[in-house]
Amino acid sequence: MSTTNASASGQFTLGDHTVNRLGFGAMRVTGDGVWGEPRDRDEALKTLRRLPELGVNFIDTADSYGPEVSENLIAEALKPYKGLLIATKGGLTRHGPQIWAPVGRPEYLRQCVLMSLRRLGVERIDLWQLHRIDPKTPRDEQFGVIRDMQKEGLIAHVGLSEVSVEEIKAAQKFFTVATVQNRYNLVDRTSEAVLDFAEKAGIGFIPWFPLAAGDLAKPGSVLDSIAKKIGASPSQVALAWVLKRSPVMLPIPGTGKVKHLEENVAAAAITLSDEDFAALDEQGKAAFKKAA
Ligand SMILES: NC(=O)c1ccc[n+]([C@@H]2O[C@H](COP(=O)([O-])OP(=O)(O)OC[C@H]3O[C@@H](n4cnc5c(N)ncnc54)[C@H](OP(=O)(O)O)[C@@H]3O)[C@@H](O)[C@H]2O)c1
Repeated sequence: MSTTNASASGQFTLGDHTVNRLGFGAMRVTGDGVWGEPRDRDEALKTLRRLPELGVNFIDTADSYGPEVSENLIAEALKPYKGLLIATKGGLTRHGPQIWAPVGRPEYLRQCVLMSLRRLGVERIDLWQLHRIDPKTPRDEQFGVIRDMQKEGLIAHVGLSEVSVEEIKAAQKFFTVATVQNRYNLVDRTSEAVLDFAEKAGIGFIPWFPLAAGDLAKPGSVLDSIAKKIGASPSQVALAWVLKRSPVMLPIPGTGKVKHLEENVAAAAITLSDEDFAALDEQGKAAFKKAA
């Protein structure tokens, strides 16, 4: 299998950083249920160390992945991060495998940022994302402390996750929203309006779940026939499709395996024809409507 460089996916500029659009999601370098150490720690470290070699310079993580495990492994594998943009998140607490509870009290968000700084071993976080707006805390208090931490220089850029257009507009009263990270893939189009808004505003859109947790990578998925036609794997076509969907799209496929990472990065070099893009778009929308 030929590997390529993530630079083939095109670039996106966040302040003083220009990154290759095809990034990496570091949630999968943890244990089952995103809890604890990964089953194969050596392979997880190898996967992370392979990223710069493949031109992947945009890496997404969160304090809650493990918790702490993903940020610690990133620091172990990649510090001092030459040429890399490390994006992390805070605002979700963990009480066991696959349990995620938002806490947005200002003192907790400040602790999240300070502890991520310590674990990553940096003085400023390149991109810090509010993982979820906590419905139990007034959102202006959450946005207010984020604005303060940015002013203090603890955070360079601010992003949001799982938000509506209305919530982005509310946050923009406090700080520049650099990125939005919402679930999005060929067959999950819930965030189409947010994506269109982000594109118009020049906000980076980070689609999490770009491979539908591997479902779109399986033979027999909606991508199969076009994948066969162009000689690519279904996961590569899924990534090529999101990359073509918008120039602000920054997909972050996640894996703890070098082989899968190489396969995913090779998608950067695949350009779908307009006809194949449209055919996939139609099939994806139909699958989304059927599932709704
Ligand atoms: N903001 C949020 O609320 C939120 C929520 C979830 C995730 N995220 C972020 O988004 C990133 C991506 O989401 P995700 O990891 O849930 O979903 P994903 O990237 O769509 O899928 C990852 C899954 O697909 C498998 N996979 C990856 N590449 C493959 C390939 N080439 N062939 C076959 N299987 C492959 C992985 O397993 P292997 O490890 O076995 O390769 C993993 O189980 C995460 O890593 C995280 O950074 C954000």
